[in-house]
Amino acid sequence: DEFKPLKTLKVLVSAGPTQEPLDPVRFISNHSSGKQGYAIAAQARDMGADVVLVSGPVSLDPLPDVKMVSIHSAIDMEKAVLKEAADADFIIMAAAVADYRPKASADQKIKKSDDHLIVEFVRNPDILKKLGEIKTPSQVLCGFAMETQNLDENAREKLEKKNCDLLIANNLSTKGAGFQTDTNIVSLLKKDSIEHLPKMDKKELGKRILEEMLAIKKGEK
Ligand code: C5P
Repeated sequence: DEFKPLKTLKVLVSAGPTQEPLDPVRFISNHSSGKQGYAIAAQARDMGADVVLVSGPVSLDPLPDVKMVSIHSAIDMEKAVLKEAADADFIIMAAAVADYRPKASADQKIKKSDDHLIVEFVRNPDILKKLGEIKTPSQVLCGFAMETQNLDENAREKLEKKNCDLLIANNLSTKGAGFQTDTNIVSLLKKDSIEHLPKMDKKELGKRILEEMLAIKKGEK
């Protein structure tokens, strides 16, 4: 079907930030709005796919006709993503997963004192890297990168290290790109190419990403 090119395919998308608890009332997080991941999920649904969206806490409305899985921490996102990944055809990790979490979350609210507060952080699992390790030959994997310097080099390194087929690199220093906005300006990297795309609506970029993934699945890999 020309208008439902993703019919019969399962598309798994992650979106939004994660929240890493410090105590029952506080957390560490980031500025991700979830807009890019939600736009990709909505686009995949419109293209006929079976869509699962694993989302961190965002202020966006849930998407109709999309299976929504809500999580808070990176550990919970890992669990939800790995559960859905096994039979997914396309996996797009657009979430801004926290790289670190507080080593322990206090049972009770941390009381203030006159002293400094020192918090120890430990590494979170790298979900995308894990997905790259367990990827089957028929799966297509897309990661995102956001950097404040050496974007293209860092993105190339990430694509290779995490065994992605596609990597979308956001430039944080450009207006109309990255967090919160409705548009994005990105570089699109594949195994042997890099393309600098013009400013695009996030849903339009979603369409481009899904078309690229379909071409890769059809054998241009
Ligand atoms: O290495 P970096 O975190 O910059 O890579 C970004 C990509 O990795 C994004 O696609 C993000 O969703 C994913 N990621 C992940 N698990 C983490 C950190 C990032 O899946 N713990």
